[in-house]
Amino acid sequence: MVTEIKPDAPALLAHPLDPLSPDEIERASALAKAHAGGADSIRFPLVALHEPDKRAVRSFNLGEPIERRALAILFDTATGETIEAVVDLNADTVESWTTRTDVQPFPLMEEFGRAQETVKNSPEWRAAMLRKGVTEEQLNTIQIDPWPAGNFGSKWETRHRILKAIAYLRDTEDDNGYGRPVEGVMAVVDLVDNKVLEVIEEDGAPPPTSALRFDGEHAAAHPRQDLKPLDIVQPEGVSFTLDGHLLQWQKWQMRVSLHPREGLVLHQIAYDDDGRLRPICYRASMAEMVVPYGDPSITQSFKNAFDSGEVGGLGRLTNSLELGCDCLGEIVYMDGHVTDERGGARTINNALCIHEEDFGVLWKHTYADERGIQPWVRRSRRLVVSAIATVGNYDYGFYWYFYQDGSWEHEIKATGIVQTIAIEDDDPQITRHRIAPGLGGTIHQHFYCFRLDMEVDGAANSVYEIDTVPIPRSDEYPLGNAFTANATRLERESEAARVVNSAAARHWRIANDTTTNPLGDPPAYVLMPGQTVAMMAAEDSAVGQRAVFARNQLHVTPYDAAELYPAGDYPNQSEPGQGIPAWMAADRALHDEDVVVWYTVGMNHLVCPEDWPVAPVHRAGFALKPWGFFDRNPALDLPMPDHCAHEEAGMDHHHSPNGHS
Ligand code: CO
Repeated sequence: MVTEIKPDAPALLAHPLDPLSPDEIERASALAKAHAGGADSIRFPLVALHEPDKRAVRSFNLGEPIERRALAILFDTATGETIEAVVDLNADTVESWTTRTDVQPFPLMEEFGRAQETVKNSPEWRAAMLRKGVTEEQLNTIQIDPWPAGNFGSKWETRHRILKAIAYLRDTEDDNGYGRPVEGVMAVVDLVDNKVLEVIEEDGAPPPTSALRFDGEHAAAHPRQDLKPLDIVQPEGVSFTLDGHLLQWQKWQMRVSLHPREGLVLHQIAYDDDGRLRPICYRASMAEMVVPYGDPSITQSFKNAFDSGEVGGLGRLTNSLELGCDCLGEIVYMDGHVTDERGGARTINNALCIHEEDFGVLWKHTYADERGIQPWVRRSRRLVVSAIATVGNYDYGFYWYFYQDGSWEHEIKATGIVQTIAIEDDDPQITRHRIAPGLGGTIHQHFYCFRLDMEVDGAANSVYEIDTVPIPRSDEYPLGNAFTANATRLERESEAARVVNSAAARHWRIANDTTTNPLGDPPAYVLMPGQTVAMMAAEDSAVGQRAVFARNQLHVTPYDAAELYPAGDYPNQSEPGQGIPAWMAADRALHDEDVVVWYTVGMNHLVCPEDWPVAPVHRAGFALKPWGFFDRNPALDLPMPDHCAHEEAGMDHHHSPNGHS
C-alpha cells in the first residue's frame, strides 16, 4: 500500500526566500521583454528569484511586507545578444539592465532541436556520413546529439554560438542509438546563423550491427517472479511538517525549493536545541558539475559537459517523480516552477520528494554483567529531501539526508546511459573499455561542486584542516603509540585550495571561534569527504582551465552575493579561469568571516559491461557532522523502539522513556 500526500498549496508568498511563483515568472518575463522592445526573437534561458540581502532575510519576521525581485536572463536568437535584467516585482519595473556580448548563456531547448535539423540537412555532413558507410535510408532514422562545444581556442568557439554534433544509427526512432555510434564525424553548428560551420572527419571503427535496449519488454524476456511485496507503512502519517517551503523534522528545520539552474536548494538549515534555533548553513546547493572524458577521438575529446550551468540548468531538467517508482512510502512532493524559455511559466509536478526512512541502529550498547544481559538501543530515522534531473544521456539524483544525531549528508546517484564509442575487436582498451561486441564505454569522471554557505551559530566562521598524524617518539612519548589530530586554520583564500588525504583521515572543521559550547570550546561542524578522485585532465588542458574548481576538493571563500557558480555565471564556451580562480585572486581573509565552503565530489567512471545498456546507480557523497556543536550525544532523548524484546527471560526490567519496561 502506498499513499500520496499533497500539502495544501502554499497560497500566498510567505517568506523572502520563497522561489518565484508562476505569476511572478510571467510578470518578470513580460516586463523584461517589453523593456527589450518586445521582439519575437527574445528568449529566457533563466528567470529566477533574485535573492534578497542576507541581513534583510535574517531580520525578516513573518507577516512583514516582502521585497520581491527576479533575475531574468534574456537571449535574442536573432542577434545573439544576452541581457541580464533585474525586475522589481513590487513596483513592476525593470531595476537594472546589462547587455553582455562576452558570454554565451546555455543553449536553449529549441536550439538543440534546430541544431539537429541543421545538421541533418547539411550536404557536407550527409556526404561525410555516406563516406562512413551510412546509407541514405539510415539517415532517415539517425540520432543526432548536439553537445556543448567547450572552448579549445578555435575561431568557432570564441566567435560563434555553437554546438558540436555526433551521430548514432537507429533502426527506428525509439531504438537505443548509443549502441551504434558513428565514429569519426563531428559537425560544428552555428546557432545564430543556423548553419554547419565545419564537418571534422577522422578514421574510426564501424558502428556495431545491433544494440541492446532496456525499454519496455526489451529489458528482459523473463522478468523475475520471486519478489514479494515490500510496503512502507506509516499509519499515523509522517513526522515532519511542511508549511509553504518551511520543512521541520526532529529539531531540524530548513527551507526547501527548486532553483531553475541549481535544482534542489536548501536555505537556512538550523537545529532547534532546547528551544534555541541554532543556524548551521544559510544555503546549500550543488552549484556546478563537469564531466570530462578521457578519450582522444574527435567524437569524445571535446566532451567536458558542465551538466548544470552549460546545458539548461538542473532545475529546468528536473523530473516529475512518481509514487511507487522514484519514491516509496509516505511521500510529500513539492512542485517546481521554471520558465518555458518564451517567458511563460512551466510547472514541474512532484519535482522534489520529501520522506522519512528507517536507517538501522543509531546507538546501542549491551551490558553483560552481574545485572544480566541488557541491550540499550535506539533506531535511526533519516529525513530525505531529493530530486532527480535528466541531462542528455545521464540521470542524476541528489539526496540530502538529515539524521537525529545532528549529522547531515549528501549522496549523489548517477545512472542512465554511458557515452559509447565504436571499437575494433583488437582495440588496446586504454581510454575505453569493451562493454558489448564492437562497443566501448569511454573513461570519464563526474565532478559535483557543492556550495555550502555556512553559518555555524552565526555568520562568523573559520575553517580548519584536520590531519591525524603520529607523534614522534620522545621522552614524553616513548612507546611510539601516540598520535594526534593537527588543526591548521585556513587564513586566506590562497591557503584554502585543498585536496583530500585519506591516509591522514583529512577533513575540515567549520567552527565559530566567536562563541563557545557549554564545555568552553568553539562549536563546529566537520565536513567528512567520502570516496572521491582527483581530476585527471592536465592543468593546462581546456577543461583543466575552465573547471578549476574540480582540481581541488575544497575551496573556501568569504561570502559575496555575486559568487554563486564556481565555473562562472556562463560556463558555456567560457574562457579559462572563470569563477573560483578569478575570485581567489583577491586572496581575501577567511578568519571569523562569513565563509562559503566549496566541496567537490569526484566520481571516477571506468565503464564496464554491467553499465550497459543502462548503468546501475553509482553513488558518491560527503557528510557534515556536529563536532562540539552539542555537549553530548544529541540523540540520547530518542524513545526506546516500541518493539524491543525487553521481556526476554533473564532480563532485568529497566524503565525506558516511553513507558515500556
Ligand atoms: Co559516468
